[in-house]
Amino acid sequence: MEVIVRPTAKSAEELTAKIIAAELIKKPNMTLGLATGRTMERLYDLLGQKCKNEGLDFSLCKTFNLDEYVGLAPEDPNSYRYYMNKNLFEKINIDMRNTHVENGIAEDLDEECARYEEMIEEAGGLDLQLLGIGRSGHIGFNEPLSPLTSRTRMVPLTKVTYEQNSPLFDNPEDMPMLAMTMGVGTILEAKKLVMLVTGAEKADIIAKAIEGPVTSMISGSAIQFHPDCVVILDEEAAAKLEGKEDYAFAVKNSPKYKDFL
Ligand code: F6R
Repeated sequence: MEVIVRPTAKSAEELTAKIIAAELIKKPNMTLGLATGRTMERLYDLLGQKCKNEGLDFSLCKTFNLDEYVGLAPEDPNSYRYYMNKNLFEKINIDMRNTHVENGIAEDLDEECARYEEMIEEAGGLDLQLLGIGRSGHIGFNEPLSPLTSRTRMVPLTKVTYEQNSPLFDNPEDMPMLAMTMGVGTILEAKKLVMLVTGAEKADIIAKAIEGPVTSMISGSAIQFHPDCVVILDEEAAAKLEGKEDYAFAVKNSPKYKDFL
């Protein structure tokens, strides 16, 4: 794993956008795994700007989102499909038929989860998976006790996640407490993982995920198993990392990232 700490959230987002853009330029028909949440909003703005101003081309790219709330229709402003259309897809030249988010109102939800896994496989697997981390330690909606081998499935959400996400709903009680999410095993099969974490409220959990033991209690810690994983943080999120200085020293000579710094 490589860890890159930038002084501000803005510079962390800019670096993440550059890394994603470089991968897309290398492989224009890449399969890109996407995340939602507050952390990604400005990153998606930057990708929109790169498409508009620098000609970054998404026309051949396929996307798969990590997760969706069960019970929310795509048109619901709180659904992750709605979030993706608004925050990214409407800003880039992607073919909407190539964008995928689990259908939270599918008649047979288990079948929908199985179908999602099949579609990822048919697309040749994920080339790059973008990740955030929740205060419960989740990646996607893989709450504590999610098996490290888990696949796309339904997961009941925890109280910590309710506290994190329900303020985004007009009426917090409308937040569904069941979600569909790619599994930890699904995520780990992506060829590359790029995690973006910003803000002081993530400092404790990201230190545990990166430097603590790998445990299903913190699904974010599973990224330690991945052979090609970069975590990009701002200073606030990196505040509790014991090895912060070592990582900053090492990344200056990183064959993969030194040219991005
Ligand atoms: C959402 C997702 C989640 C979020 C996490 C952080 O698709 O994958 O794991 O990345 O809950 O959310 P924010 O960015 O709102 O703090």
